[in-house]
Amino acid sequence: MSENSPPPRGIIPLAQPFGSSEGGPTPFATDLTVVVPCYNERPNVAPLIAKLHEALAGIAWEVVFVDDNSPDGTSEEVRAIAQADSRVCCIRRIGRRGLSSAVIEGALSSSAAHIAVMDGDLQHDETRLPLMLAALKSGAFDLVVGSRHVAGGDNAGLAGSFRVWLSNSGIRAAQFVLPSRVSDPMSGFFMLPRVTFERVAPHLSGQGFKILVDLLLSAPAPLRVHEIPFEFRERHAGESKLDILVMVQFVGLLADKMIGGVVPSRFISFASVGAVGVVVHLAVLTVCRLLGLGFSSSQTAATILAMIVNFSLNNSITYRDQRLRGPALWRGLLIFMVVCGLGAIANIGIARVIYMENGQWTPAGLLGAVLAVVWNFAVSSTLVWRRR
Ligand code: GDD
Ligand code: MN
Repeated sequence: MSENSPPPRGIIPLAQPFGSSEGGPTPFATDLTVVVPCYNERPNVAPLIAKLHEALAGIAWEVVFVDDNSPDGTSEEVRAIAQADSRVCCIRRIGRRGLSSAVIEGALSSSAAHIAVMDGDLQHDETRLPLMLAALKSGAFDLVVGSRHVAGGDNAGLAGSFRVWLSNSGIRAAQFVLPSRVSDPMSGFFMLPRVTFERVAPHLSGQGFKILVDLLLSAPAPLRVHEIPFEFRERHAGESKLDILVMVQFVGLLADKMIGGVVPSRFISFASVGAVGVVVHLAVLTVCRLLGLGFSSSQTAATILAMIVNFSLNNSITYRDQRLRGPALWRGLLIFMVVCGLGAIANIGIARVIYMENGQWTPAGLLGAVLAVVWNFAVSSTLVWRRR
């Protein structure tokens, strides 16, 4: 530790016990909390902490790992190191998944003046952190982004041309709706004053991977952004958690922000899954007809299959953060089928009443269907995917 750096978090000078009459609070305030969302990053924890010690010498910092109960024991690894290093803390979340929501919880646990967010796989260049902190301290910016797309930045660590194309398409889509010009809005490496984060936090959607886009879109007034180039390195160990479902969620986030949060993004996702269910239903019906089966049994088979498809899509996309597994999955499917069955009965009943009133097929059918979707959404989000 350098001469002028304060003692690490949690170490209180013996001469002035915390809370003692003459002592009062320790003067060693933390300047920077580094929030690291992590899932199955056990082998990367110790190397990252070592690199932070090196990069942040002379700064009063701490690191908060937010782990979604990784099966590889990431939390245990963090806690083992934390026993000897009070700059290190761990938040272990159970029954939850999601990069954005993990970052939000980690950031909200901080009392430091500044918050940095970085990945736990050593892809982000920790040596940029002091530069980012200095930029914030100049007072000219509300947010400093580690960027791969300004002069001096590099995207080398992005595995494969498909990932590069995907990343660029995402950037273009985000830039289309962003209030401020940011060349790398998909970056997961950024820093901002804690008070700024706290101000925006209640407006964040917290869905999916793209916490920076979420922050930029949710801030009540456009943020003054500064970008600092960095080289996106290759992942140190383990594998990326970014998959097709994460991308679907990203489109959902943009849609949610564009329509001003009037319709909850979960509902949009649920209704879109419902539309997929209709396609599945019709496809199964067609196959059954070609096989020469009777209508009633075909319709029953199509309904059950569409429900199963809808349930699994909702479980992995709409409610990804509360995904059901094991026995809870089967219980959830059963309740989902009962709920949707009641929804179908209500759908037919209402449509029939409307049809009897005005004699028109389309509005009656449409109203029945809309009512069923709203019912299915409202009831399944409380009974099937209730927050634990
Ligand atoms: N707690 C928690 N929960 N952490 C998660 C979860 C989750 O569900 N999913 C991913 N993480 C953690 C990972 O363990 C890692 O530390 C970090 O979030 C980034 O995840 P990666 O799986 O390494 O993502 P990536 O390298 O493919 O994507 C990164 O680079 C993109 C740029 O192309 C991220 O920084 C993206 O935000 C960024 O857009
Ligand atoms: Mn990564």
